[in-house]
Amino acid sequence: MASVSVRDLDVTFGHLKVLEKLNLEVEEGEFIVLLGPSGCGKSTLLNSVAGLLDITDGEIWIAGDNVTWKEPKDRHIGMVFQSYALYPRMTVEGNLSFGLKVARVPKDEIKRRIDGAASLLQIESLLKRRPSQLSGGQRQRVAIGRALVRDVNVFLFDEPLSNLDAKLRTELRVELKKLHHKLNSTMIYVTHDQIEALTLADRVAVMHGGVIQQLAPPKEIYRRPVNRFVAGFVGSPAMNFIEGTLVGGKGAPALRLPDGSEVVLAGYDFIDVPGEGRPAVLGVRPEQVELASSEANSGIFRIEVSLVDPMGADSLLWGSVGADTVSVRIGPDDDYKVGETVTGHFFPDHASVFDAATGARL
Ligand SMILES: Nc1ncnc2c1ncn2[C@@H]1O[C@H](COP(=O)(O)OP(=O)(O)OP(=O)(O)O)[C@@H](O)[C@H]1O
Ligand SMILES: [Mg+2]
Repeated sequence: MASVSVRDLDVTFGHLKVLEKLNLEVEEGEFIVLLGPSGCGKSTLLNSVAGLLDITDGEIWIAGDNVTWKEPKDRHIGMVFQSYALYPRMTVEGNLSFGLKVARVPKDEIKRRIDGAASLLQIESLLKRRPSQLSGGQRQRVAIGRALVRDVNVFLFDEPLSNLDAKLRTELRVELKKLHHKLNSTMIYVTHDQIEALTLADRVAVMHGGVIQQLAPPKEIYRRPVNRFVAGFVGSPAMNFIEGTLVGGKGAPALRLPDGSEVVLAGYDFIDVPGEGRPAVLGVRPEQVELASSEANSGIFRIEVSLVDPMGADSLLWGSVGADTVSVRIGPDDDYKVGETVTGHFFPDHASVFDAATGARL
């Protein structure tokens, strides 16, 4: 177990500044997920911690030790990549023990560690097989096992599940979470899959353009996104965005839509009371909109139904609010006709309001 501290990290490839003055503090035993779209710098950050690339400026500390100039092998990290790259000619046991043999770990100690890892990962019965005789999920378990048998302070995962099919991904995700509970080790995990991020993380770092936009527990990321990027990136289907201008001040705040109608925002917790007439974007998640009226929720808008998508456990109603498209999660048996107009109700205190120009939460 160890803390990880990334301080003022700059990484530049040629003329491309990928990370600039990036700071990240990971506590001992914490599971941090780096979440963001392709190319935002997740792997670059992870590889910087691992020592796999030359950083331009800044420092990396692991377990209170400045490891900025240390070799990867001296950082006591275990890394698992998307492609598991097992040695094809070796058995599972051979794959697990290889690094330990090279490091001249005594035989009985190697056996003890392999037995421990194999039992944790439930691959005891596979030890004599070769990688070609394993399923994708089993191979990835072996790859995780290879990191597990080593004496490491920190586990670094770079999209370890993205080569697996949906069912296996879910299974292994649950296993990984259990593993973290058992080992209590520090983990930094890269993914662009928001469900993985929300389910696994103690805290999620949402990245965009090389910058950590928000670092917070999953619930907070979901409920109080700090800006429109985070709001739109996390959640599926995405948060609904409705554009307008703020009116009514603190007393009776509302969003005036282009057609002149107003969405009441009474109860919304503004960080700062915004000036009258400020262009803003209301963000409401599909499951936060109810089509049956409830007296307590004051926010209301009219939706013209354009499509209903059955999805098994529930359905999605798609429609338009002025020029904006919105989706609403409805019951599987709810019956709405295309073209009809329905009324959406929501609690403003559960919603988000963003500045139209900067995207910052208001
Ligand atoms: N060795 C390199 N040389 C030049 N540019 C690089 C190098 N490695 C990464 N980059 C660039 O740095 C940026 C960040 O890359 P990075 O691999 O960190 O993204 P990522 O968030 O991991 O994306 P993905 O989800 O696709 O893996 C990208 O624009 C990429 O093209
Ligand atoms: Mg990557």
